Amino acid sequence: MTKSVASANLPEPLVVTLGNLKGGVGKTTSAFFLASYFTTVHELRVLVIDADPLSQTGYSWYRRLLKANVTVPFELIAFPSRHVHDCITDNAGKYDVIIVDAGGESADIFKAAVPSSDELLLVTSVSPSEVKRVPSTYRAAEEAAAESDKAIRVRVLMTKVPVTMKNGVNVSTEYRSQRGNLEDAGYDVFEAYVSAWKWYREAADGEVGDGAENPLEDLGEYRQVGEELIQPYLDAALAPRIPLEVPA
Ligand SMILES: Nc1ncnc2c1ncn2[C@@H]1O[C@H](COP(=O)(O)OP(=O)(O)OP(=O)(O)O)[C@@H](O)[C@H]1O
Ligand SMILES: [Mg+2]
Repeated sequence: MTKSVASANLPEPLVVTLGNLKGGVGKTTSAFFLASYFTTVHELRVLVIDADPLSQTGYSWYRRLLKANVTVPFELIAFPSRHVHDCITDNAGKYDVIIVDAGGESADIFKAAVPSSDELLLVTSVSPSEVKRVPSTYRAAEEAAAESDKAIRVRVLMTKVPVTMKNGVNVSTEYRSQRGNLEDAGYDVFEAYVSAWKWYREAADGEVGDGAENPLEDLGEYRQVGEELIQPYLDAALAPRIPLEVPA
């Protein structure tokens, strides 16, 4: 564990659920890159739970990497079940970070993961149809969280963001307007976003092994996302503890 994270008072384990009741938004890609962030940058023990009942792309991707003898620094379990919270609890002692890829369409499994989570990332691209699914996903999470006494931080992560840079600012109108919509609706949106890069797509869909690069070795923008993800814990750990003065 690096010093910064060791002193950050991360929950043990830190449970991060990625969700959006809409498929194809970049949940699995985000789960893999964030898992790599925690293992390579902070040397933490990381488990990814593929809880997607529809497309077990995380599981297949992981198998493909292992078969090609690519070093994958984290572990993965396929557990697409409404009992996903048992999977989290049973593995809590063995890992520092558990990332749940809660799949699209199945509200049941997503909702089962929420009460065991510390962090919920609502993943969406800038596509209006996907952004429109954020409130229903949020409501499903809220319902699930009502049954838990654990505090869950909910943030939106924007993926597949088109990039048109001008003076160091991304002026893409799709990006600006959808971010604006989300912020106006009161969502806490990550400052960092994940650009629409072929390179991310090739990470999951491209060649592996036989001299091909290990796509997860370069964290890309997920390094910033990871830093932002743990920032609240760092802030809390650094907050000065002012001795309470008892009035005379
Ligand atoms: N930032 C990105 N830029 C370009 N392509 C991306 C990006 N992120 C993901 N993709 C591609 O988009 C597709 C969907 O991504 P991914 O499988 O991560 O989404 P998902 O939300 O897990 O989808 P599903 O609901 O089908 O499981 C994949 O082909 C992936 O390679
Ligand atoms: Mg997926």
